[in-house]
Amino acid sequence: MKLEKLELQIAEDKGLPLLESNLVFGEGNPDCDVLFIGEAPGLNEDREKRPFVGRAGQLLRKCIRELGWRESDVYITNIVKRRPPENRDPNEEEIEKYKPYLARQIEIINPKIIVPLGRFSMNYFLPLAKITRDQGKLFRVEKHAGGRVSIYILPMLHPAAALRGNEAMKMFKDTFLKLPAALEKVKSGDFGETKEESNKEPAEKKKKIEDVQNKLF
Ligand code: URA
Repeated sequence: MKLEKLELQIAEDKGLPLLESNLVFGEGNPDCDVLFIGEAPGLNEDREKRPFVGRAGQLLRKCIRELGWRESDVYITNIVKRRPPENRDPNEEEIEKYKPYLARQIEIINPKIIVPLGRFSMNYFLPLAKITRDQGKLFRVEKHAGGRVSIYILPMLHPAAALRGNEAMKMFKDTFLKLPAALEKVKSGDFGETKEESNKEPAEKKKKIEDVQNKLF
């Protein structure tokens, strides 16, 4: 299935929550290596029907360009595809209802790396992860959908969080700079020593993360 068809299906699904807001499906290159996933559109995104076009989005887009990439080389979307009122966080029901569409969007795009922005998006892939502890680490998640497939996840702080303080901004930018190397690692399948490091996790911590997460660096 193509993304255009999926967008039509979402647009026609009257069982979804937040129908009073505009649909913000996502944009970019459907053949990309890197897929950024935020939480839900805000006011600017709702107006423009485009993801990440407000202040936080400008930071995200600037960081992409500073890597020497074009915004049109990657794909940017959100878990929840319509704006919650007053820019509140998306609730569990909203996330649940939009999830199947995100899953299909990911399947169609089939990126090398997924970059969840912020904890809501990160916890969709890595339910036990903690954003400040685990942002900037590369994870492999095994999916069992008609055969085993690995997806690679590099969680980052939400750019809106980065805008709130110098320390968070530094963390966000430092992680961003790791993205090209992470992509190379995934493409080459060479995780060498870093695999060993993850084996050295303290037993208790390892147990906590082992079911869903396989940290690669
Ligand atoms: N924050 C998000 O999570 N997504 C957007 O599209 C804009 C702001």
